[in-house]
Amino acid sequence: MEIKRVHALVFSGAGTTTAVARRFCESFAKASNQLGMPVEVEVDDITPAASAVPAIGANELVVVAVPSYGGRVPAPVASRLSKLGHVGTPAIMLVTYGNRAVDDTFIELADTLESKGMVPVGGAAVVAHHSLMTNVAQGRPDQDDLSVVDELARQVSSKLAHAACARDARLGSVPGGRPYREFGGVPFKPRTDEELCVRCGTCVVQCPVCAIDAEDPTKTDADACISCMRCIDVCPRGAREIGGGLALGAARKAFAVKCAKRQKSYLL
Ligand SMILES: Cc1cc2nc3c(=O)[nH]c(=O)nc-3n(C[C@H](O)[C@H](O)[C@H](O)COP(=O)(O)O)c2cc1C
Repeated sequence: MEIKRVHALVFSGAGTTTAVARRFCESFAKASNQLGMPVEVEVDDITPAASAVPAIGANELVVVAVPSYGGRVPAPVASRLSKLGHVGTPAIMLVTYGNRAVDDTFIELADTLESKGMVPVGGAAVVAHHSLMTNVAQGRPDQDDLSVVDELARQVSSKLAHAACARDARLGSVPGGRPYREFGGVPFKPRTDEELCVRCGTCVVQCPVCAIDAEDPTKTDADACISCMRCIDVCPRGAREIGGGLALGAARKAFAVKCAKRQKSYLL
């Protein structure tokens, strides 16, 4: 089947998933070029609550890239994808994770895509620096991890080139189970240094769940916040950091012990 555009929709709190999605798109474009089928590349950030999810056209390969949170797809993603609707579009699932596990992330994502008529044709789990337990998986993704992303691009470009339609290239099985693992979030929430904050509102606009008060951005609704780290990542003044003090320090130590073994990135 002919692919004219590879179109990534990326949810990313701390930016690693965006980098991995870009890498996939570049590798896919290169591999397709080598097969004599040049493609355009578009990468759309669907993290902010007000993200306008673009229409998916014919002859597109959609790449949905998300971090695993508690072994699940980040909660806001399902509603972002609810507007997708080009039946029969092939889709890639790219999941980053912080060296623990992805649990049910792929099956949840596949269920969401299939409910929109899309066809999962490939995917990869990519180990990345843990955005919350920051002492875990430092320096990941590394060359070995990125070579898995490149291999996915090569395999999928070749598979689609030889397929009559996306269904011919459908993934055989998707890891994970139903009902999905329960995840109620983490108790660590960002806080603001009121001296440094200039109330520019960048964090308000970038927050995926509208948890930051537009009138007073130093206030965060802890119940709404999903601890994605986006506000910390985008703050131009470095005025936000994750709270948690001693409890966070203890959690990080325990997590580093539990997740000390190097996990691999892998293809589905
Ligand atoms: C709230 C939260 C929950 C997470 N849960 C998991 C998890 O269950 N398993 C895991 O291996 N990594 C987990 N991580 C780590 C992220 O999946 C990983 O750091 C990811 O690369 C972050 O992507 P980003 O930089 O695009 O935000 C979690 C991170 C956060 C912030």
